[in-house]
Amino acid sequence: MTAIPTTFRAYVAERIDAPDGARVERGVREFPATDLPPGEVEVRVSWSSVNYKDGLATRADGKVARISPIIPGIDLAGKVVDSSDPAIHVGQSVVAHGYDLGVARHGGYSEFQRVPAGWIVPLADGLTERDAMSIGTAGFTAAMSVVALQERGLEAGDGPVLVTGASGGVGGTALAILADLGYEVWAATGKPDEADRLRGLGAAGILARDEVTAEGKPLESERWAGAVDAVGAATLPYVLRTLRTGAAVAASGNASGPKLDTTVFPFILRGVALLGMDSAQLPIDRRRAIWDRLATDLRPRSLGEHVTEVELETLDDALDAILAGAARGRWIVRVGR
Ligand SMILES: NC(=O)c1ccc[n+]([C@@H]2O[C@H](COP(=O)([O-])OP(=O)(O)OC[C@H]3O[C@@H](n4cnc5c(N)ncnc54)[C@H](OP(=O)(O)O)[C@@H]3O)[C@@H](O)[C@H]2O)c1
Repeated sequence: MTAIPTTFRAYVAERIDAPDGARVERGVREFPATDLPPGEVEVRVSWSSVNYKDGLATRADGKVARISPIIPGIDLAGKVVDSSDPAIHVGQSVVAHGYDLGVARHGGYSEFQRVPAGWIVPLADGLTERDAMSIGTAGFTAAMSVVALQERGLEAGDGPVLVTGASGGVGGTALAILADLGYEVWAATGKPDEADRLRGLGAAGILARDEVTAEGKPLESERWAGAVDAVGAATLPYVLRTLRTGAAVAASGNASGPKLDTTVFPFILRGVALLGMDSAQLPIDRRRAIWDRLATDLRPRSLGEHVTEVELETLDDALDAILAGAARGRWIVRVGR
């Protein structure tokens, strides 16, 4: 039994290996339901979003897509149209993200998708499907980072907390959540013209990207009570050498590169902690609990304000722009018509 029509619209990326090099052909196609993977839950997708990883999944050198052709989209929100799992009901609004979605099996840029029941997050009251994708994987990772810092003991009033890549999806949402919770948040950005918007989200101060990527001594003045970093490369070493004794950074990304060139001194002389964030493999119970908090105490007051809507037909530009570091908030994808 299936509630999915024989064919439907999907944005597909297909790798073409040619003698002059590999390329990826991208675009909207009529996609056959018979090519969808198995799964207990069938979803009519209403919204998806554009994450950094989605950009990589449509690049020949991106090293993200593990099947070809692939429907990218590492997250989706929509309504259940069929379910063989008694805990998940037809008509329910749900979210799914991470695991193999949009990486090793078809993802969210598709009018319909089949998903394992164990990956499904029932959407809490208080969040629409559009809200959920305005948060998306990036915003979820921001929330996960805030929770990790709180579990490590960080409280509002402990001192300034640094958020890097603040104009982007992870950074902007982390900034908003922390500021709404009463933390003193400082935003590092490479886009000076974003300063007013970031102050509007609650930033107490702004740091230029140069300041957080400069070479420095193994240890510098203790400044930050905590930090959220999705930028990596030269920025994360700066964060480590300027964290206060006992403080932690929640590190989730490599927007400026994967290399980490640091010394052990922040760890062995200041007890600093590097908390790794992997939203893709977070177990489903933890994932559902964080989504419930995103509907309540972690819900950003500015939710839905800094989003740009695109359609499947206009995805190309957003996928290229996110890789170019041009994010200003989040792109969401209207999938359902
Ligand atoms: N581990 C996980 O579970 C997880 C989940 C989601 C995302 N991520 C990763 O986190 C990173 C950010 O994701 P995102 O969706 O927030 O991306 P995004 O919206 O593109 O934000 C990244 C931001 O990083 C900053 N940046 C600094 N140097 C950059 C450079 N050389 N190139 C591009 N951006 C640069 C930019 O902000 P400023 O201009 O303001 O500095 C940019 O807006 C990515 O590496 C992504 O793969 C990981």
